[in-house]
Amino acid sequence: MKEIIEVELKTHKIDFSKCETSLLATGHFSDAKGLDKLNAELNQKLGGAIEQVIKLGDFKGKAGTSAVVYGNDSIGAKRLLLVGLGEKKKATLDTVRKAAANAAKKSVELKAESLSLALHRALDGKLDLTAMGRAMAEGTYLGSYRYDEFVTESENGRLKSLNVEVIDSDKAKITKLNKGLASGIIIGKAQSYARTLTNRPANIINPEALAAEAKRVAKNTTGLACTVFDEKQMAAKGMGGVLAVGSGSASPPRFIVLKYTPAGKAAKGRPTIALVGKAITFDSGGISIKPADKMDEMKLDKTGGIAVLGTMKAAAELKLPLNILGIIPSAENLPSGTSYRPGDIITTFSGKTVEVLNTDAEGRMILCDGLAYAVKENCAVIIDIATLTGACKVALGKYMAGLMGNDEKLIKQLQTAAEESGEKVWPLPSGDEYAEEMKSKIADLKNTGSRWGGACNGAAFLRQFAGDAKWAHLDIAGVDLFESTTGYTTEGSSGFGVRLLTTYLMNIAK
Ligand code: BES
Ligand code: MN
Ligand code: ZN
Repeated sequence: MKEIIEVELKTHKIDFSKCETSLLATGHFSDAKGLDKLNAELNQKLGGAIEQVIKLGDFKGKAGTSAVVYGNDSIGAKRLLLVGLGEKKKATLDTVRKAAANAAKKSVELKAESLSLALHRALDGKLDLTAMGRAMAEGTYLGSYRYDEFVTESENGRLKSLNVEVIDSDKAKITKLNKGLASGIIIGKAQSYARTLTNRPANIINPEALAAEAKRVAKNTTGLACTVFDEKQMAAKGMGGVLAVGSGSASPPRFIVLKYTPAGKAAKGRPTIALVGKAITFDSGGISIKPADKMDEMKLDKTGGIAVLGTMKAAAELKLPLNILGIIPSAENLPSGTSYRPGDIITTFSGKTVEVLNTDAEGRMILCDGLAYAVKENCAVIIDIATLTGACKVALGKYMAGLMGNDEKLIKQLQTAAEESGEKVWPLPSGDEYAEEMKSKIADLKNTGSRWGGACNGAAFLRQFAGDAKWAHLDIAGVDLFESTTGYTTEGSSGFGVRLLTTYLMNIAK
């Protein structure tokens, strides 16, 4: 898939004032007393123009803000972008990521084709340069992302490509930045890829199309293999959950399995990690149909599965020394004469039976088969990711994903990855009390619990399909979508999970 705005990203060792570029971005703290060394030097060459903007109060260094200052003959840059970093003591890697996103977004708006980033300068000494290189790369992809592949008539056109350099005058610093850039580019691209695939509507991406796309990615990626089970193969295996959900649609369901094996003996003897992602290409609710308002957003219900696909791509490109299985059950949830019904009892892949009380609780019906598959493949660690419950969005809002699990260490590792990646999580319970609610009188389980604690009930259902594996569940129903432009990027799919899961994998590969 072609990137919608093609980004070219590299490092460049050069004097900051000599760098010829359409836009040179530097960082400023809101609580700084005076200008730092780099900005003082530029300010002098610009005859005090930076100081003037600050003195006039047009720019205060607040996070999320920026100001343009125009260049002159004594510097190579046509424009300077002062990017707000907020308070120095609060600065984290996400500050750098957001600053780069802010600069990239501005570059696209100004149609400035070349962008030079010197944002790490303000935080050098406080944060690791390699980590900042990675964050700047990720931020660049986030901020420059646009989804307009079906717009045929655009008035003013927009940039087709963006050339970005991370610059520094010090060779040793460039070496460190460059190392971070290499992984940041892989992760940034994988996330943009996931966003585009998720943004595509259900008439373009059905389960078959998603499976074909996964096959294409595997074919083009060293170390990655893809197997797809069609509805007949699923029936032979007894994958009753996925089949039930998919039964109402003319587009049949698919069970997608991606396998990553690193070259040589890098991961020999290491246990397999499974990533299981929900890929409902459209969730109408089925017979238990949803209200019409905002139903269009349910084209995004495949985002968990696509986050797994993007993460598998990134893990393979990063050549991580791990064995990873990406499991993506995919179906379209529609009402029709062949749909599954409330009251139906389904025998799932695990052998456990489920009484369907609400066909709109379909995510758990497909994920339970995905989890059972991971258990049968002897995976030691299983992480599932899904837009599972509106209740999670009610509980945590738009900023954090719900995190449940049965293993403290795994939960901690995911919390650490969340802090580093800027894709935030918050722990929620899913233990025995909640599992109790999911018991049926006429089957092993039912697919809905009481009205209360819906996110926890959903997780407690899934938990019972993870066997003895270390298991964690990410409910991303609140964070899958940017409703409007945010600090990072424009509206639409967030691609949530690609950075979080890839960071988790990179950390445990160390
Ligand atoms: N895909 C939805 C959850 C969702 C809601 C995601 C809003 C993003 C935004 C899921 O399949 C669903 O419909 N869940 C039901 C579960 C209920 C019937 C137990 C819900 O949240 O209402
Ligand atoms: Mn649903
Ligand atoms: Zn759903």
